[in-house]
Amino acid sequence: MILLDGKKLAGKIQQEIKKDVDLLKQGSITPGLAVIMIGDDPASRVYVKKKAEACKEVGIYSVVHEMPDNIKEETIVNTIKLMNENNSINGILVQLPLPSHINQTKILETIDPKKDVDGFHPFNMGRLFLGLDSFVPCTPLGVMKIFKEYEIDLKGKNVCIVGASNIVGKPMAALLLNAFATVDVCHIYTKDLKEHTKRADIVIVGVGKAGLITEDMVKDDAMIIDIGINRLENGKLVGDVDFDAVSKKCSYITPVPGGVGPMTIAMLLSNTIKATKL
Ligand code: GUN
Repeated sequence: MILLDGKKLAGKIQQEIKKDVDLLKQGSITPGLAVIMIGDDPASRVYVKKKAEACKEVGIYSVVHEMPDNIKEETIVNTIKLMNENNSINGILVQLPLPSHINQTKILETIDPKKDVDGFHPFNMGRLFLGLDSFVPCTPLGVMKIFKEYEIDLKGKNVCIVGASNIVGKPMAALLLNAFATVDVCHIYTKDLKEHTKRADIVIVGVGKAGLITEDMVKDDAMIIDIGINRLENGKLVGDVDFDAVSKKCSYITPVPGGVGPMTIAMLLSNTIKATKL
C-alpha cells in the first residue's frame, strides 16, 4: 500500500507558489485574497485561520471580513461588490456554510467570476462541466493534483464518488468525466452503497461520517481518496474511511490528516495566483 502524501505535495506546490509570488512582487504586484466569514462555526474558523496562515507563508496579502450570524444579506452583498471593485483584491472567498437566512446562491453569484477562487459561481461551475478553462473548486482540484503526482491514469477507470455536494462531489465528477473516467456518484438516497464502492477502481469519499467505508466495501487493490474530516470524542481526527482495515487491502490511500486537506489550501493559493495573472 502506498500512502498518498498530500501534506508533502502541498508543501512542494506552496514552494512553487512562493516563487511565483516573488516574481509578481518584483513587478510590483502583490496577490490579494479576501475571505468573508459569517457566524462562528468552529470548523469554519479553523479553515479560515489555516487559509490566512498559508497566504502569509507564501507572501499573498489576505484580509478576513468577519461578520456576525445575524448579518443582513444586503451587507454581505455590498461587501462583495466592494471587493469586486478593489484592485488590490484578486480573489474572493465566502466561507461556507452560511446561516440559514442567507441565500447562498445570491451571495455566490455576486462574486466576480474572475475573482471566484473557490470556483463556486455558476459561471465557473458551468465552464467546468463543459470542460472549459475555469476556476475549479479547491478540494476536487487538489485530488486531481494527487492523481497527477502519482501518475494515476484515469482513462476508463471506474470511480465511485460518495457524496454529491456542490463543493466536492459534483465538481469532482465533472473533472473525472473530463479525464474520461467512468463515474458513479452516490449520495444519501443511494440504495446499496456497497454495490457501487465494491466495483470501483478508485473510491472518493467526502460526507463527514467516520467509519462509513469499511474493508468489505472496497475491492482488492482499489485506490482510496478520503476527503472526510471528523473529530472523534477522544479528540482524534479521522476521515470517512476505516483507515486501519482498508489500508491493508488497498493499493493507495490518503491519510487523514495529511491527505486531501493540505491540498485544498494549496489549491486556494494556486487559484489566487491564477486570478492575479488574469
Ligand atoms: N466549506 C467547506 N469547504 C469549503 C471550501 O472549500 N470553500 C469554502 N468557501 N467554504 C467551504
